[in-house]
Amino acid sequence: MKRPLIAGNWKMFKTTGEATNLVQTIKAGVYKINDCDMVICPPFTALAAVSKILTETPIELGAQNMHPETEGAFTGEISPAMLKDVGCRYVILGHSERRQYFFETDAFVNEKIKTALKYSLIPIVCIGETLEEREDKRQFEVVKNQFDHSFKDLSKEEIVKLVIAYEPVWAIGTGKTATPDQAEQMHSYIRRLLKEKYSEDAANRIAILYGGSVKPDNIASLVKKPNIDGALVGGASLKAESFVQIVSQAVAEVEAGASS
Ligand code: PGA
Repeated sequence: MKRPLIAGNWKMFKTTGEATNLVQTIKAGVYKINDCDMVICPPFTALAAVSKILTETPIELGAQNMHPETEGAFTGEISPAMLKDVGCRYVILGHSERRQYFFETDAFVNEKIKTALKYSLIPIVCIGETLEEREDKRQFEVVKNQFDHSFKDLSKEEIVKLVIAYEPVWAIGTGKTATPDQAEQMHSYIRRLLKEKYSEDAANRIAILYGGSVKPDNIASLVKKPNIDGALVGGASLKAESFVQIVSQAVAEVEAGASS
């Protein structure tokens, strides 16, 4: 039975006090759930406070970004050692908002992935096409290009440590989710790329999450698909109730699928 992974990306929301309240409510809401991996990615300023609350819970802490160098004169940046120090196990890399607003390239994402792995951080690497690219029917070409360059020179031992998030840019924060069939089509394509470049075993071990307007009412139809292993949730992770519902719906769907 697949074990879903649900990650909440809080983006640039929540002060420390707000983050503390939110995570406490989420913690109380999921305490009976064992069959799901859960990750919460607050802004940097709230990591330490959230980390304390998550100690001895099954919920893992993640960051939303990281610089590829261990340390140095990079004003305003955060290093992998700093993330480890504060209790992070995961780090989101190459989110489309980083690519779009901060001009991050696949080569830069590739450097970040390599350093994250050196520090035993699990990268959640985002790839996905824009609306224009999909309308031009170039979505597979675009994703393959991001795949080839972001994962350049990663060994099989390294690639199996990653989580991949397919996030079509046109579905992020727009309320417009890819249909489960559209998402599954891309997930199975990514799985095939992994199989061709690495091996079937590697391809099957890597979790591929879907991201883009995931909500309590669409998560079940997404995780029902064989190649969708969970979700990277933005807006709906900012309310405890919807995050908890997404987690419970994902678990219920996977369990129902396994027993049918
Ligand atoms: P959204 O964001 O769920 O608000 O669409 C997803 C993401 O950007 O990771």
